[in-house]
Order: sequence, then structure tokens, then C-alpha cells
Amino acid sequence: MIQPPAPVWPADSFQPVLDRIAIEIAVRAERGAPADYIPALACADPHRFGMAVAELDGTVYGVGDWQTPFSAQSLTKTFTLALVLAQEGEALWRYVGREPSGNPFNSLVQLEYEDGIPRNPFINAGALVVTDHLHSLTGDAIGTLLEFLRAESGNPDLGFNPSVAASETANGDRNAALAHFMASYGNVANPVPVLLDQYFRQCSVEATCAELALATGFLARHGIRADASSLLTRSQAKQVNAIMLTCGTYDAAGDFAYRVGLPGKSGVGGGIIAVVPGRCTLCVWSPGLDARGNSVAGVAALDPFTTLTGLSVF
Ligand code: DON
Repeated sequence: MIQPPAPVWPADSFQPVLDRIAIEIAVRAERGAPADYIPALACADPHRFGMAVAELDGTVYGVGDWQTPFSAQSLTKTFTLALVLAQEGEALWRYVGREPSGNPFNSLVQLEYEDGIPRNPFINAGALVVTDHLHSLTGDAIGTLLEFLRAESGNPDLGFNPSVAASETANGDRNAALAHFMASYGNVANPVPVLLDQYFRQCSVEATCAELALATGFLARHGIRADASSLLTRSQAKQVNAIMLTCGTYDAAGDFAYRVGLPGKSGVGGGIIAVVPGRCTLCVWSPGLDARGNSVAGVAALDPFTTLTGLSVF
């Protein structure tokens, strides 16, 4: 009879593997460059590196700059998607798809061919639709997001950075074009300036690796929040994890699945969150990005994490 393989990562602490990864990252020369299309992010130091792992019970292990707040940017698209799915369910998919786009995160080209319906909730166009729905459902998209992140992370002061939001607004022509274009197809309910204001504040949320790993915990607990209440059904948590795996790192999602093998979501602030369903969540931060907008050191750290621990969805 074939025996099942031994359980992976039997050690009772993730600290040794994090320490080993931090040493490997420290000697890496290649770091990428911080996002420069949002001036407030351009001055970030690409040598900053932090990584945190949160277990299902809220125990957190960390290394490097894991307690330094950074700009969460598109990581927040994961949380707004979950908050809308929780209330709206399957009806959301009439307004946004769930297929990888194979295009850059801020691309306009598919939108016209596909009648103003964005490919998925993680490209900017899709995230704008999700934030539009969250604002319609709650009357306060950014307030709802912050309330959720504060509760899950345990930090009542977690907030957004108004000067980053102002910088995004001042340099937001591409997002404004996406929102107006979708509005012309009837796929935006709120006035575009209201939607953009909500979206830019959402992108400007600042949090640490520890806080973001904790806030992602519901996806490893099959939809259950830190206080044991349910945000998503088990099936909906599976759906969000699946969309992270296939669309969370944009046109690099295939390479991320190959190297890391986990549902993950990146942001141009240099953060990446990742989920080991039923086991733990991770957040890694380093501001230097590759050409597709994913943190170079972040992916380089998640890759050995899954190799060393054997924790992956595959
Ligand atoms: O809207 C934007 O372009 C940025 N505020 C967020 C983009 C982002 O993080 C995409 N991630 N890789």
C-alpha cells in the first residue's frame, strides 16, 4: 500500500526559515527599482526587506523590516474583493471577469474589445469596479476597508497616507481614463471623481508585513475572521485564492505560480501577500520592482520559502 508522504515543515517555528531567507536576500545584488509613476513611492529604498508569516491562531514570525509600515497599494484589492463578494456573491461576476489578462495591470486595450467589463478584479480596471461596488454597498468604501484591516491586524491606528493619495490623484490620468471608459459602458455607478478618490485612498493604505499577513489570515482559515466570525464561505475563500493564483501578479502570474506555488497578490509599493490554505499567510516587502510591477526580492524570498518548507498548493 502506498504511504502518504511525511507532513511538510514539521518544525514548530517558521523563524529559522525566515532567518535563512533574510541572509540569502541580503547578499543578492539584484533589487529592481521602486515604482516611479507615483512620485511618492519613487524615493523608497530598494534595500529595505521584511517578511512575516502569520499562523492561523495569529502567531506571527518576522525578519528584517517586518514591522515597518509601507504602501499597500494593490494588496488592498484582495480585501475589497472579499468584502464585496461577502455581500454581493456571484452577482459581482456580471461586472468583472475572473480570467488572467496577460496584460499589464494598468492596460486599457482589452476594455474596448470586452465592452467595458474588466478581465479580473486585480487589474486596475477590475479593482475600480470592485471599489465602486463596495462604495455603493456601504456608502464608505475606504472606511469599510480600514475597519476590516484594523480588526484583523489588531492595529486600531492603521490608516492611509493622505500625501500618497494626493500624489496618486495628481498622477492618476491612466486610472481616470479607465474609470471614465467603463462609465461610458454603464459599468461604474458612482460619479467617477468619487470613485477615484476612494480608490486612491485605498491604494495609499499603509501597514506592516505583520499586519498584512494577519489581515490575510481569513483566506488561510477558509473565510473565517480573526474573531471567529465568518466573512466568506469556504467556497468563496477558495474562489479568492484561485483568482490570486491566476491573476494576482498580473502578466507574471504563470511565473509566480511556477516559482512560488501559492495564491499571491502584489502591489507597486513592493509588497506581496501569499496564502498557504489551512496553514499560514505571508507578507513580504521590498520596494524594488521588476518590469511587471512585482517586488524582485519579494518573489526571491517566497520562492525558497515554499522550497524549504514544502508548503505550497501543489
Ligand atoms: O492604481 C495604481 O496604479 C496604483 N495605485 C496601484 C497599482 C498596483 O499596485 C499594481 N500592482 N502591482
